[in-house]
Amino acid sequence: MNKKVAVIGAGNVGASVAQYMAEANIADVVMIDIIEGMPQGKALDLTQAGPVRNYNGMVTGSNDYKDIKDADLVVMTAGLARKPGMSREDLLNMNAEIVGTAAKNIKKYAPKAFVVVVSNPLDIMTYHMFKVTGFPTNRVCGQAGILDSTRFRAFVAMELGVAMTEVHAMVLGGHGDTMVPLPRYTTVAGIPIKELIPADRIKAISERTRNGGGEIVKLLKSGSAYYAPAAASVQMARAILMDEKRVFPCSAYLNGEFGIKDIYIGVPVVLGANGVEKVIELQLTKKEMSDLQASAKNYKGILKEIGY
Ligand code: LAC
Repeated sequence: MNKKVAVIGAGNVGASVAQYMAEANIADVVMIDIIEGMPQGKALDLTQAGPVRNYNGMVTGSNDYKDIKDADLVVMTAGLARKPGMSREDLLNMNAEIVGTAAKNIKKYAPKAFVVVVSNPLDIMTYHMFKVTGFPTNRVCGQAGILDSTRFRAFVAMELGVAMTEVHAMVLGGHGDTMVPLPRYTTVAGIPIKELIPADRIKAISERTRNGGGEIVKLLKSGSAYYAPAAASVQMARAILMDEKRVFPCSAYLNGEFGIKDIYIGVPVVLGANGVEKVIELQLTKKEMSDLQASAKNYKGILKEIGY
């Protein structure tokens, strides 16, 4: 029997997740949305692309949470997206309600599922999902680090005129203004970028990465990025469903690692059949560590606003 992936929200991010997930050929996909007909229509369209795009999994759509029954993995994308000038935190209360409702239904209908959260503000919504489902921390994680790192990778590749896939990067911290790009751990075919790019350009690229989501919001005017966020989520889903043991920065629960406790924030983890199998406590400089801890402190404050 095929694995089953449920995608909550059939908007731009959700539909792109469904598309990449179907193309990965490893699971059937069900999309859930409150808008009548929309998830069903997009699902039918994606199913009809199967013979041309070479996939055989079923893609279905529904307005009823009961259709996520026994999903192996849920990707949570529903929620409002930013408009120009808004921060991810401006979405807090509305999205907390949407994520809370989804969490209750995931707990009810797919109590064994892994959950990858994409809704913003990301690290806060991931914590909220963890609390409302009551799932163990290894089964709930958030997608942000891969997205922030892939933006960094793309910018480095554009700067140097090299293949994007040659660039590896590590961006930690919260998915927002306090994110922590780590140029020290960013390489081109193993060569540290400090040997290839002048310091002021690395700083500019780090800054552009930090504002990467906002740059797209400003261009689109009525929504936020979705191709790269969806691609990143599917990479996480795949690593879990296929037990790939891949190492990614993800929003994970910390219980003392990096001197941070009881919060979700972006750190390097191993993703495999048990979800977040390990948090990798890589060596940080004093400055990197204090930036990461400052990011965590910022989110502790925001969590209080939704009652934690
Ligand atoms: C971004 C949004 C999706 O970074 O958080 O593009």
